[in-house]
Amino acid sequence: MKLPFCFITRGSRMFYRLQQKEFLSHFPRLDVTASRCGSTQMCKDDKSFYITTPIFYVNASPHLGHLYSAVIADCLHRSKLLQGFNSRFATGTDEHGLKIQQAAEAAGKDPLIFCTDVSERFKHLFNSCNISFTDYIRTTEQRHRQAVEHFWSVLWNKGLIYKGIYEGWYSTQDESFLMPSQVGEALDSSGKEIKVSLESGHKVEWMKEENYMFRLSMFQSQLINWLRENPRVVQPERFHQAVLQWLQEDLPDLSVSRQRSRLQWGIPVPGDTEQTIYVWLDALVNYLTVAGYPDKHNQWWHMAHHVIGKDILKFHTIYWPAFLLGAGLPLPQVIYVHSHWTVGGKKMSKSLGNVIDPLEHSQTFTNDGMRYFLLRQGVPDSDCDYTQHKVMKLLNAELADSLGGLLNRCTAPALNPFQVYPSFCSQSFPSDQGGRAVTDDYHMLAAVKHLPTVVEQHYHSMHIYKALEAISSCVRQTNGFVQRHAPWKLDRGDSKDQRWLDTIIHVALECLRIYGTLLQPVVPEISNKLLTRLGVQPGKRSWDALNFLPRSQGMDCPFEGRPLGPDSGVLFSRLETQSVVLTEHQTENTIMSRAAQY
Ligand code: MSP
Repeated sequence: MKLPFCFITRGSRMFYRLQQKEFLSHFPRLDVTASRCGSTQMCKDDKSFYITTPIFYVNASPHLGHLYSAVIADCLHRSKLLQGFNSRFATGTDEHGLKIQQAAEAAGKDPLIFCTDVSERFKHLFNSCNISFTDYIRTTEQRHRQAVEHFWSVLWNKGLIYKGIYEGWYSTQDESFLMPSQVGEALDSSGKEIKVSLESGHKVEWMKEENYMFRLSMFQSQLINWLRENPRVVQPERFHQAVLQWLQEDLPDLSVSRQRSRLQWGIPVPGDTEQTIYVWLDALVNYLTVAGYPDKHNQWWHMAHHVIGKDILKFHTIYWPAFLLGAGLPLPQVIYVHSHWTVGGKKMSKSLGNVIDPLEHSQTFTNDGMRYFLLRQGVPDSDCDYTQHKVMKLLNAELADSLGGLLNRCTAPALNPFQVYPSFCSQSFPSDQGGRAVTDDYHMLAAVKHLPTVVEQHYHSMHIYKALEAISSCVRQTNGFVQRHAPWKLDRGDSKDQRWLDTIIHVALECLRIYGTLLQPVVPEISNKLLTRLGVQPGKRSWDALNFLPRSQGMDCPFEGRPLGPDSGVLFSRLETQSVVLTEHQTENTIMSRAAQY
């Protein structure tokens, strides 16, 4: 049998203290393939989709990183809806544990009142930023408590939980147990030597108490098989490899409760009121609670997709699948991992004063502006630095000038006096060369035709920045097309010129229709404005309705000759340098003056 959570101090001295009060020798046979659904035909044909964000700790107000997790999940949810899926999207707040208990104490508030207040702030942020969640879960809800108690009992009845003594390092800030190799030394603000987690930098403490332990060690080879047989289950690849690497090392059993005397703010262990369930077990079960566990979860649970930040990889790719295997439940389909936002090259932290308030910044840059920036600039593999200057530059270039400029040109009364979706002339733009179109125009058509496939693939694999890069490149090509043929120079009195002019505008509007449709998951307000201006009715905005430039293939275009929608002003207003840069200087000064104190 493997050691329980390891107890090696500096100098590699090893303590091993496990007193198993109850050891059940009968373990159920756990078959990883029976729990998997990823490759079965049933799943492929199923049109259900279930996506989750992590649930957010309520010890502090929401920051930019939290919004980022939510925006990614929202984009995936919206793209699935547009593809005709029945998609469910859960987010919410993680309200139990020592960290929250201490934060409520420090605020001098009753813990539930404290949690409700912060939970409402998260909800308000998400509503303000168009995060279209279908479920908002709080771990202090009764339905969740029932799910956790049931889940615990299943593990207990299968002999996967036993009582023992846990002795080792614990980080309250991360609510995480650490191996000695994960602990280092640092100085606190008063110069005192303290132990910290090497990964997060948070303080750790040595603890020793009687706890319930989960037989995590039993699942090591099943987890390895699951990851090997499903090479796309943890994305991007680099995180998949990292998990496999961790699993090459010892996987000790995991403490899954704390003594009630130390932790009161949590769900009591069923049948033992002296112990409180470990906050991560409690929190992870939220995904099942929303799906309807324990009675009605089947429809959603076999289609579960999780979006998580890289700091909580181990909890979602080792503990969570092991718990699920233990409980005999299917494993998640995909765990999408994203990296972090830094500010001034540093981790966001209250003490450095560099925490970005996502609500404030959404007001400066608009909701869609913020969403676009995060998804266009954020890459899952590596951390990205946030500066307002970058936000402004990107939004002005891609949303205001490129996309907004294209719409403006093609709908301006000077070029489009009758405010219609003009006719396409196949003599001017034949399917083969020979009309007035040139080679680059055909290249552009090919790129736009292929764009929905490219974008769908990138959305699905959470490479949203690549999808936006592809759209942005097509927008540039369409602008180039209009610029190249300078329709404003054509002679309206000449019928051939007039037909060619109409064709140019028809093609450009068709391109814009595709961009507007594909951008809906990322910038819902801008897309709505764009599609409304083009006169595309809500029922014609799904993936199925994309069918680019049907007239070039001799088919009817449902929009040809139809009036454009109302003009409700510029698509995205250019951001002014002065106001934005001013705020940035203030932020930088704050960072510098605060940093000087440390
Ligand atoms: N409560 C746990 C999750 C439990 S899920 C069963 C938790 N909460 S958290 O509030 O600390 O973090 C929530 C999410 O925000 C995580 O995905 C985390 O990676 C993300 N972010 C926190 N800081 C971040 C950045 N600076 N940048 C990007 N995302 C970051 O962990």
